This record gives sequence, structure tokens and C-alpha cells, in this order.
Amino acid sequence: MYTYLVTGGAGFIGSNYIHYMLDKYGDDIRIINVDVLTYAGNPENLSDIEQLPNYKFVRADITDKEAISKLFAENDIDRVVHFAAESHVDRSIKNPEVFVQTNVLGTAVMLNCARAAWEQPDGSYPADKRFLHVSTDEVYGSLEEDGGYFYETTPYAPHSPYSASKASSDMLVKAYIDTYHFPANITNCSNNYGPYQFPEKLIPLIINNALHGKKLPVYGDGKNVRDWLYVMDHAKAIDMVQEKGRLGETYNVGGHNEKQNIEIIRIILDVLKEQLPDDDPRKAHISEDLITYVEDRKGHDRRYAIAPDKIKAEIGWEPETMFEEGIRKTIQWYFENTAWMENVTSGEYRNYYEEMYKA
Ligand code: NAD
Ligand code: TYD
Repeated sequence: MYTYLVTGGAGFIGSNYIHYMLDKYGDDIRIINVDVLTYAGNPENLSDIEQLPNYKFVRADITDKEAISKLFAENDIDRVVHFAAESHVDRSIKNPEVFVQTNVLGTAVMLNCARAAWEQPDGSYPADKRFLHVSTDEVYGSLEEDGGYFYETTPYAPHSPYSASKASSDMLVKAYIDTYHFPANITNCSNNYGPYQFPEKLIPLIINNALHGKKLPVYGDGKNVRDWLYVMDHAKAIDMVQEKGRLGETYNVGGHNEKQNIEIIRIILDVLKEQLPDDDPRKAHISEDLITYVEDRKGHDRRYAIAPDKIKAEIGWEPETMFEEGIRKTIQWYFENTAWMENVTSGEYRNYYEEMYKA
């Protein structure tokens, strides 16, 4: 029975991953979720599984060496899946330091504590010990509008403080692999969407604003391209890389689903109109008139696109959820979870939104 230490499991991708793993393996695995619960961490995301005997939540900061080494000392951890990070580009532009603190220093602490717990006197590691570092395609920088893909061999060229901090954390993992033969993998994934995503990110922000008849802010000309992947497909990729990936390797994960931001917004408006019953008062709000072009993001990357050839060839992973289906499921989830949205959009997020969009 493997024991997983998941960092940042109360966030968007981490909570979906924990649901995926418990659905797949049931009580054949044990999960310890360590999360400090920043504005982005929400224990409500896991309320349905919090009573399970093989799940445990520990509130701690990944930069806290003592807390993390205690977790390794008290539990025989087999797998680390490291999600915890500051994850929003716009916040990194406003306040870069916390990104360096959490994403770089926090990753160093996780690596150090795992190595201290796992490394044997001869420098080898027990076969079952594996560390998976969850990273982003944004480390590769920006592609031209008219072509090209990110491969595992693409040189790193991050632009935002967020992507620079993730690139630094990836480099630390690579350094541990090269220096200590540390048993790790890195996944660099494209933009995710799905349930439990915090509404500072494009898709949930547009769904939420449209339902409330609020403006839909489009940065710049709206033609920046992102490669969208349904979050459960990412969860599956992480599990497959951890079980089948060659140690020390990086795998790019993406949906081959490139869309301009303005296309995404129009699709969301169409699906909202189609899914809301005629007598729902929110239907009256839904209109393209809400689309509002605003000042561009500083250093805004033009296009991201992943070539998932390596993960497909070596591991057999492919995206399974077509965008049409994934966006419908996602919108349906937000319809059914208005209380979740109300909870996360009160308090700190309201201040952020007012400051960011001068609303
Ligand atoms: P998120 O912001 O929704 O969640 C981050 C979680 O980490 C939160 O629960 C937060 O409380 C926790 N956390 C933050 N600082 C912490 C600290 N110091 N100690 C302990 N916990 C801390 O992020 P997400 O979108 O779920 O992303 C998860 C990971 O996946 C990140 O590493 C991100 O870089 C990566 N990633 C995200 C995407 C995407 O589209 N969202 C795509 C590719 C990769
Ligand atoms: P985001 O969801 O923040 O992800 P990332 O910046 O990590 O790719 O943004 C996705 C795209 O949508 C990006 O090109 C910026 C754009 N965007 C808007 O046009 N308006 C918004 O209000 C937000 C949050 C993002």
C-alpha cells in the first residue's frame, strides 16, 4: 500500500487529482495532503472525502523545513506529488516575491526533506520512492502565432515572475536528479480547466461574470492562444508518469486544443445560453455585449502549445476529454455549485478583483 504525500492538494488541480486517485485506487492507497491554505486553497474542495480513514489533511507551509521533515519522519512516504505553488500570472506581476518564496524555496525544502528521508548510505534509493514535480508549459516562454510546439527539448525562456519561479523550481529538480540521482519526474502541462478552479483564471472568471451580468475582461486583442486540457486528463497523466515514466525524465502534457481567448469566451457564452433554462433569470444577462477589451497583461505570452508526443509514445497517455464535452461538464459543475463560488468570491478575492479590474 503506497503512501502519497500530496502538496497543495486543496487547490484546483491537487483536489481533482486526489479525487481521481481515490476513485481509482480506493483504500489501496493512503493520501496525506499538506497545504497551508492560501486564498487558493479550499478544504471544501475535499469535504466529500475528508472522513475517509486513508486520507489525512495537514495544514503546513512547504517552506517550513521542520514541519515537512516531521511528515517524512512520521510517515513512510512512497510517492510525493508536488502541486503546491503560487499559480496566477497576474498576481506574480503585482507581487513576485511570494512566488520565489513558495515556488522556489518551497520546492527546495520538499526535495531536501524527501532526499533526507529516502537516500540510502550508498547513495541509492529504494525502488518505490518517487517524486513528481508538477510544472507548467509556461517555462518554455511564448510561441509564434503561426506555428511550432513546445517539446521537452525546447529551451527554457520564461517571461513572467510566475513562469520564472516555476522554471527555477524545475531546474532544482533537474539538479537533484543529476547530482544525487534523485528519483524524480517533471511534468510540464498546458492550461487546465474544470471543477474547483479559482475564478481569477480565465474560464471560471468568465463563467462567473457572465452569470452575474458583469463585464467579461479581454486582455489586449483577445487573440492570445492557450492549449486547454480538462483537469481530470491531467490527473491521469500525473499518475501514469509516476507509475510508468522513466525516472529522471520530463514529460509534456497537453490537449492539442489550442484556442484564442476570445474564442473561449464565445464558446462559454454559447454553452451558457444553451444550458440555462429559459425561465432562469440569469439567462437575460448572457450576451456578447458584456465582452470588454481591457489593457493588455504586461509581458503577455502570445501562444502556448504542447506536443505531447513523448508521453503518448512512452506511456500511452492521450487527452480523452474533448473541449466541447469538458467545457459543458465544467459549466454544469459551476451551475450546481453556486455556494462554492459565493464562498470563494467573498473576502480576499473581492479585494483582489476590485484592485485588478478597478471594478
Ligand atoms: P492553485 O493556486 O489552485 O492551488 C495551489 C495550492 O497550493 C493551494 O491549495 C494553496 O493553498 C497551496 N499552497 C500555496 N502556497 C503554499 C505553501 N507555501 N505551502 C503549502 N501549500 C501552499 O493552483 P493549481 O492551478 O491547482 O496548480 C497546481 C500546480 O500545477 C502548480 O504547481 C501549478 O504551477 C501547476 N500547473 C497549473 C496549471 C493550471 O492551468 N492551473 C497548468 C500547469 C501546471
Ligand atoms: P489565465 O487563466 O490567467 O492563465 P495563464 O495566464 O496562466 O495562461 O489566462 C488565460 C489567458 O486569458 C491569458 O492569455 C490571459 C487571458 N485573460 C483575459 O483575457 N482576461 C482575464 O480576465 C484573465 C484572467 C485572463
